[in-house]
Amino acid sequence: MTRLECARCARVYPVDQVRYVCECGGALDVIHDLESLRPALSRALFDQRLRGAPCPHPTPVSASGVWRYRELVLPVRPEQIVSRPEGNTPLYHHARLSSWAGLDKLYLKHEGENPTGSFKDRGMTVGVTQARCLGARAVACASTGNTSASLAAYAALAGIPAVVFIPAGKIAAGKLAQALAYGARTLQVDGDFDVAMRLVRQTCDALGVYLLNSLNPFRLEGQKSIVFELLQGLSWQSPDWIVLPAGNLGNTSAFGKALVELSQLGLIERVPRLAAVQASGANPFYQSYLGGFQRPVTVAAETVATAIRIGAPVSYERAVRSLRSTNGVVTQVTDDEIMDAKAMVDSAGIGCEPASAAALAGVRRLVAEDVIRADQQVVAVLTGHLLKDPAATVAYHTGEWPRARYANPPRSVPAEVNAVRRLIEDLL
Ligand code: F0G
Repeated sequence: MTRLECARCARVYPVDQVRYVCECGGALDVIHDLESLRPALSRALFDQRLRGAPCPHPTPVSASGVWRYRELVLPVRPEQIVSRPEGNTPLYHHARLSSWAGLDKLYLKHEGENPTGSFKDRGMTVGVTQARCLGARAVACASTGNTSASLAAYAALAGIPAVVFIPAGKIAAGKLAQALAYGARTLQVDGDFDVAMRLVRQTCDALGVYLLNSLNPFRLEGQKSIVFELLQGLSWQSPDWIVLPAGNLGNTSAFGKALVELSQLGLIERVPRLAAVQASGANPFYQSYLGGFQRPVTVAAETVATAIRIGAPVSYERAVRSLRSTNGVVTQVTDDEIMDAKAMVDSAGIGCEPASAAALAGVRRLVAEDVIRADQQVVAVLTGHLLKDPAATVAYHTGEWPRARYANPPRSVPAEVNAVRRLIEDLL
């Protein structure tokens, strides 16, 4: 039977109880009975579901890259599922980006190509499905932008009111536009993400509103499917490394859990190492890593990558467990490194938002430091879409980012054909 279990003291709760943390304060995990699932689950089953998605009217269950792995996500009836559908994102290989990172072979799993433009949709399809199963009167989250965009969309789809708490003036324009457009009640909090996070927790408990930050263990069950899907995309052959940006540490927690489960089920032979990448101005997890994870660290966070501008990550404990179970590492990159890596991803025609580019910047740094070898196989996860943060991109290319190495500035030209021809000759 699927159950909730405390990651700290192993106390068990039923899966239909509204609860985000244990009585002891520890975070909860959704625990599946892997032993009883083992005989039914195989690579062939998931491969057959992938090939068999019917068109042109696929059901959410058959078409979703999350619910394809439903036994390892959440056992619900198909008609309960709230899905766009999500997942089935591309796994790019790009020679120029590989060599820029210093690798023979780099893959990019692009989670920005989900329905609302970020990986959050994979968690939200599960979180909002669970909210519906529980009969929630409303759902809420604090967010640096992407979670709120995704929650707003999935809540609208389910017909459940959504309330989102965002740090005033600190989220990218594309994300704010989404929350408003999808109809979420949007609260601009006078404070940073960490303040908004504290407030939403107090509010949800008091009002009986269902909290859908990644503290909610059902979110992580959906986000595990990033790992399931990228491994399936590599024919279940583990890469040496999976590299991801780290903010509130939900994904880091989910990735480790996914890898341990796949390994316990015998679906992969080797567990890849995780590398979590933080912005150097928002690096509490990195600092804690340097201290051997003796204690959590909090910082006053500041970075151009607003998605990961987080100083007190809520999924700290589960993320430490992920790092330990995958022999993982944590690194940090500067805002200049992030923006140059973003310009590389963008100019390859792929594109991503700043926080996502931290993954590529992190790969390059870890290769330069000989932590990752050039001949190792690496998957970097791009977490959000280029169009999420137009302001950061335009600033980089128009001279507002002083140290931009790969700027592509626009040129002004008179409306006169000879001048235009001369300019184009110059540019080509
Ligand atoms: N990349 C992007 C684009 C994100 O939006 C986030 C988190 C992360 C990386 C970090 O993932 O929190 O699981 O470590 N965004 C959250 C939000 C906090 O509110 O949208 P994490």
